[in-house]
Amino acid sequence: MTLLGETATTGGRKGGEGEVLAIRGGRALRGTVEVLGAKNLVTKAMVAALLGESPSVLRDVPDISDVAVVRSLLEVHGVRVEEAGERGALLLDPRDVESAHMEEIDAHAGASRIPILFCGPLLHRLGQAFIPDLGGCRIGDRPIDFHLDALRKFGAVVEKLPSGIRLSAPRGLHGANIHLPYPSVGATEQVLLTAVRAEGTTELRNAAIEPEIMDLIAVLQKMGAIISYEPNRVVLIEGVPRLEGYDHRAIFDRNEAASWASAAIATDGEIFVAGAQQQEMLTFLNVLRKTGAGFEIREDGILFRRGGDLRGVTVETDVHPGFMTDWQQPLIVALTQAQGRSVVHETVYENRFGFTQALVQMGADITVYPHGLQEGPRRVPRRSLEQAAVITGPTSLRGADITVPDLRGGYSHVIAALTAEGESTVRNIGIIRRGYADFLDKLSALGADFDVVG
Ligand code: EPZ
Repeated sequence: MTLLGETATTGGRKGGEGEVLAIRGGRALRGTVEVLGAKNLVTKAMVAALLGESPSVLRDVPDISDVAVVRSLLEVHGVRVEEAGERGALLLDPRDVESAHMEEIDAHAGASRIPILFCGPLLHRLGQAFIPDLGGCRIGDRPIDFHLDALRKFGAVVEKLPSGIRLSAPRGLHGANIHLPYPSVGATEQVLLTAVRAEGTTELRNAAIEPEIMDLIAVLQKMGAIISYEPNRVVLIEGVPRLEGYDHRAIFDRNEAASWASAAIATDGEIFVAGAQQQEMLTFLNVLRKTGAGFEIREDGILFRRGGDLRGVTVETDVHPGFMTDWQQPLIVALTQAQGRSVVHETVYENRFGFTQALVQMGADITVYPHGLQEGPRRVPRRSLEQAAVITGPTSLRGADITVPDLRGGYSHVIAALTAEGESTVRNIGIIRRGYADFLDKLSALGADFDVVG
């Protein structure tokens, strides 16, 4: 395995995104897959390494293109990155951090959203930062106003250019009182990565508390940071003048685990997800239990299966500890096989049901309500941007010619094609490599019947 595959040399722009699969569905997926470190921690921990005065070792790094993009951006800033012996371990040496050339940074434009998190660390290390235009999945506006407002509170001067954002900190970075309008994952990470070396104390209110954020806090503590959290989403960060490297094994990828769980249920198969842990998946497992799907928690992973007739459920996506937005797309494919009506309220992003069009083309009965659905008691307060999808099942799916739109939606298209009778052509599957390591190998090992045709 290489952590710097084809995708990295292209700065994450191409990465084989044009690949086409011919999938012959209707076969149950059976076997074992292993999940490594979470994309949404690993990429942030790699950025954190920039803050240290000595090298870091990050373990269980998956071979995905988002990692390659961050690796490449670190390298253009003078960080030496190399495989560190054990499978999936990366050594990140930031001792020669330097300003990168604009063209080198610009080559990463549109590749990922992670570069926004370079702001604080680069300001601390170099006194300035240039961040290219951001990419990431097209699942709504995904603005960065919380990030920029927080950085300004620390004392950063933000200048918007046509090709990106330039930041400087003429008077240094100082601790701040920040109240996020919404518990944004990225903005919380931005504050953490900036506050740890800012002068003075930062109080962050309405912080995100996702397990990946708790793991980033653990990484930063290993580096020498002082971070404590209080009830009600309050995080206190006491700035320190110097941080060292860390040695850390990343938390497992609960999004990938939930994706394979949904694949097992949708195809009426049985998949053991090695490395999955119960605690971080409690909310997902509760929903599975309500559908009647089966799971068995073992010491080294979780076994998922359909286990009989599935029942429809109502799900509301939310920030942690709620039901994660990244879990809803794969689950919806499984819900097309459930008896009766399911409702999924999406409250985190304003445009995350586009992928259902392909499922409808394949025979699913799904209606999307773009302004949400007012019915029944709700746990998550209604948001102005929310939408709802109503899935009525069970429906048999049939093969179709589909093009994947984004990471999680794309994975869901592949599961739908594997569930469907007949042959499907699934295009643009390269995008799935942003977050699913060794994806095709894992599918083969589970008995999926497909060919790469383009
Ligand atoms: C992270 O995105 C994840 N990405 C997403 O995973 C995940 O869906 C999301 O958190 C929620 O858990 C990474 O960690 C790389 P947010 P992030 O800031 O940090 C609004 C996947 O498939 N907002 O919590 O970008 C925003 O528009 C990806 O793995 C602002 O309004 O998410 C959204 O409605 C997709 N202004 C909400 O907050 C801001 O400045 C939550 O976004 C920032 C966010």
